Amino acid sequence: MRNPRLWMLRAATLSLILMALLSGCAPRPVHAPTVTPTSTAKPTSTPEPTATPEPTATPEPTATPTPTPAPTEAVARRTIDPDGKMVALTFDDGPHSTITRRIANCLEQYGGLGTFFVVGDRVSANSRTLSRVAAAGHQIGSHTWDHKNLNSLSAEGVASQVRRTQAAVRKVIGTAPRILRPPYGSANANSRAVIRDTANLAVVNWSVDSEDWKSRNADAVVREVMKNVKDGDIVLMHDLYTSTAEAVERIVPRLVDEGYQLVTVDELYRLRGDTLKGGSLHFKNPL
Ligand code: NI
Repeated sequence: MRNPRLWMLRAATLSLILMALLSGCAPRPVHAPTVTPTSTAKPTSTPEPTATPEPTATPEPTATPTPTPAPTEAVARRTIDPDGKMVALTFDDGPHSTITRRIANCLEQYGGLGTFFVVGDRVSANSRTLSRVAAAGHQIGSHTWDHKNLNSLSAEGVASQVRRTQAAVRKVIGTAPRILRPPYGSANANSRAVIRDTANLAVVNWSVDSEDWKSRNADAVVREVMKNVKDGDIVLMHDLYTSTAEAVERIVPRLVDEGYQLVTVDELYRLRGDTLKGGSLHFKNPL
C-alpha cells in the first residue's frame, strides 16, 4: 500500500496478459472445425441414394396375375393316356365357398380335374367359386334346383328343376350343364324322359360311394374310397364337409401315386370311346 505506482503497474500488466489470452483463444475455434468435416460428408452421401430408387419398378408385374384365375401349370400341361387307369371324382350339393375351392385346388395341384354337380339355388350366392372352378377346367353338372326327389314331382316340376338350374349355371359360366345327377340317385324312366325332353342331359350316378355324408370323418372316407376304387370308377363325394376336403387331400396323391389319372365324367366317357346319352342312366363306365 505504500507504493501506489507499483500497484498500477501490476494491474496494467495483468490486464494486458488477460487481453492477450482472450484474443488468442478466440480465433482458434474458427479455423479448426470448418475444413475437415465438410470435405468428408459431401462425397459419400450423394451417389448412394440415386442408385436405390431405380429397382422400385419391379412390383408392378406381380399385381397383374391375380385377377385372371388361370388353371395351374399342372392342369395346363395335362395329357391323358386313354389306355391308362382313370377315375372320376365327383362332388354333389355345392358349390361351397371354401370346401369346393379347396377340393378343386387339390385336384389341380396334381394335374387332375373333377366334376361338380351343383344345386341351382346355391349358384348365385357362390358364383365366384363356380366361375373359378369352371375356368380351371373342372366339369359342372346339374344336381337340380333345390334337391328334391325328382320321382316325387310332376312332369312340370321335374322340367322346372332342370330348366332353372341350366339357366343359373349358364348365367355364371356361359355354358349350361350336359349331365345331371339326380338327388338320392333317384330318376325313374318318367323323370329321365322329362330330363331328356327339357335339356337332353345324361343322368350320371356313381360306382363308388365314399359315404362321406354319413361318416363325416376323413379317415373313414379315405378308407372307403381306397378300398373300392378301380379303373373307370365314378366316385361319389360331397363338397360340403371339411372332412371331405381333408379326405380328398389324402386320396388324390395316393390315387396319382397308384397311376390313376383324375378325369371329369365327360373325359372318362370320351377317352374310352363311349358316349353320354341324353336321358339315359349312367352308373359307371361300362368298359
Ligand atoms: Ni345331393
